[in-house]
Amino acid sequence: MYGSGHGGQCYSPGECGVAGLAIAIKTIPGHIPKGNGRKGGDIIKLNEPTIMFKNTLLKQASRVAASTRPSFTSSAASRSVAPAFAQRYLHATPALRDEKHDEEQGAGEHSGQFARTDESIQVDYPDEKDMPSSKPVQGRGGFHFKRTLASFSLEGNVGLVTGGARGLGLVMSQAMVISGADVAIVDLNKEEAQKQAELLMQSFRDENPGAESVPNVTAHYADVSNPDSVSAVIQEVIDQHGKIDNLVTSAGFTENFDAINYPYDRIKKLWGVNVDGTYLFATGVAKHLMERDAKGSIVFIGSMSGAIVNVPQPQAPYNAAKAAVRHLAASLAVEWAHKGIRVNCISPGYMLTALTKKILDDNPELAQKWTSLIPQGKMGQPEDLMGAVVFLLSDAAGYVTGAEFRVDGGYTVT
Ligand SMILES: NC(=O)c1ccc[n+]([C@@H]2O[C@H](COP(=O)([O-])OP(=O)(O)OC[C@H]3O[C@@H](n4cnc5c(N)ncnc54)[C@H](O)[C@@H]3O)[C@@H](O)[C@H]2O)c1
Repeated sequence: MYGSGHGGQCYSPGECGVAGLAIAIKTIPGHIPKGNGRKGGDIIKLNEPTIMFKNTLLKQASRVAASTRPSFTSSAASRSVAPAFAQRYLHATPALRDEKHDEEQGAGEHSGQFARTDESIQVDYPDEKDMPSSKPVQGRGGFHFKRTLASFSLEGNVGLVTGGARGLGLVMSQAMVISGADVAIVDLNKEEAQKQAELLMQSFRDENPGAESVPNVTAHYADVSNPDSVSAVIQEVIDQHGKIDNLVTSAGFTENFDAINYPYDRIKKLWGVNVDGTYLFATGVAKHLMERDAKGSIVFIGSMSGAIVNVPQPQAPYNAAKAAVRHLAASLAVEWAHKGIRVNCISPGYMLTALTKKILDDNPELAQKWTSLIPQGKMGQPEDLMGAVVFLLSDAAGYVTGAEFRVDGGYTVT
């Protein structure tokens, strides 16, 4: 179980941790952060006064909206919140810009301030040694007394999950195991993958006493951005399991730099893992399925960032990568539909993995900013992806291909 909520927010157990948001928040010249006393000098609490100020304004804005049409002249604070409303009212105003009208409506330096990226936010993907390990989710398998559609079962299937040693990939691997599949966890960190493979099998035994067979979970090394490594691991998995029916591509990461200052070598690495890695595994597994003349189901892990632009952290290359992943799913779905291979994309919103729990515990202001933008008012749990991935991999989704399945608490519909 992970820690408790942030700043009075009520998250359920297991919350907190947005891996892939890899985080050491830094400032860049020209910005004057408020330090948090951590070592290294460059790791700070994210513009704490600014974010708290924004959050206060957001709350004030909500209160004003709930009561009555806001008076933009009654106080300094209400003048500051006015732009949020002015943005809406502007849709009904004449197209030609009227400065006096803008001023009356509160437009000015605050206009759109909650919808901007903030170039002072920089986030580096942490070193492997700084990555927290996860525990299997408890009590989600159960004794299967509750009836459900047989078509949701993955029994008899072999699934390969990239990035399965940690975070979302690990929880989705567990969902597949609970649903009866054998699973091959593929990750850069084979040691962690091995440990988790054993934990998943043990967890299955604990939750299914007397089970006649326990799904076989194996661990494998690969760098998903390296074509030779991908070919080798696909062959290794086929050698050990006999076949692959399902693929989930969860290996991926994000970093945060403003576009102008984003180091090019890091962009290439990010696209290599998120996009090339997805492409290489999809084509490798599809080729194997076609050689077997077998049907199969592939799920890419994209992100809501493939459809919207997150604020305040700047992450243009990641957003573009996830848009590519989403459209790659649709494109391959069309290309392989007649072969019985389905390809879909799950696009999570802000999810609380072990890594992001650590990040957000250190920076609760960022959590508040994010949750203020989510209709459900909370970040997602990795477990929230369990049903989605099992559904898309299973025969229950037999007529679903090329789809994007957003699991984001409603973030992208506002
Ligand atoms: N956590 C979120 O809030 C969130 C939201 C939307 C999308 N996503 C996406 O979900 C996926 C999983 O994210 P996460 O939060 O679980 O991240 P995570 O960092 O917890 O786990 C990622 C795993 O991928 C592995 N990996 C990284 N690079 C690799 C490589 N080159 N080859 C093989 N394995 C590699 C890591 O070792 C790690 O085990 C990513 O694609 C991420 O972009 C995450």
